[in-house]
Amino acid sequence: MIVAVDGPAASGKGTIARALARHFGLPHMDTGLLYRAVALNLLQWHGDPESEFAAARACDFAQVDFDDPELKTEAVGGIASRISAYPMVRAALVERQRAFARQPGGAVLDGRDIGTVIAPEAEVKLFVTAAPEVRARRRLDELLRMGRHAHYEDVLADIRARDERDSHRAAAPLVRAADAILLDTSALDAAAAAAAAIAAAEAKSA
Ligand code: C5P
Repeated sequence: MIVAVDGPAASGKGTIARALARHFGLPHMDTGLLYRAVALNLLQWHGDPESEFAAARACDFAQVDFDDPELKTEAVGGIASRISAYPMVRAALVERQRAFARQPGGAVLDGRDIGTVIAPEAEVKLFVTAAPEVRARRRLDELLRMGRHAHYEDVLADIRARDERDSHRAAAPLVRAADAILLDTSALDAAAAAAAAIAAAEAKSA
């Protein structure tokens, strides 16, 4: 069974995807990490994020440590959101994601275009969302927990800018697939969101 979990930044889709993977005993891929790895390569190689060719050259995972905490920073996320608009970058990452989705037994993938582009055949599709203010508060708490300085207004502006870029790019924009179940986590904590997602996925796959 393939489970596709899409949604905007800090909607809770990562937590939900991990809970679904545990529940169904499936491997999980956070596809945002691939775009973040390209962004980090680009930063470390002093490449220009305005250049699609430079970004395409940075699609090299030979040296990438997917546990590197640098991948999770706002700076890397911001560049990831820019370079993910380039068709050459998206094309370079498609096969890795499709192969993961189509492994025997299935998988859970979370991202922006899993239910629409990577695995339109997924049996279960969730579109996870939450109000921008709630997502900004969550992201701020996360940053403060990591010991970083951040202000709510800046985080909210960043979330809105990312939503705008992810939703309005020409290549694989963030949209809800017609057959995706909508899950608004604005009023749910992590455990309640995971429980709601598991219930929806169980009902869909039954
Ligand atoms: O989900 P995360 O914030 O880690 O993703 C970083 C960026 O990568 C997003 O802002 C988005 O632009 C891009 N992305 C994407 N398609 C995916 C996953 C992430 O375009 N499937």
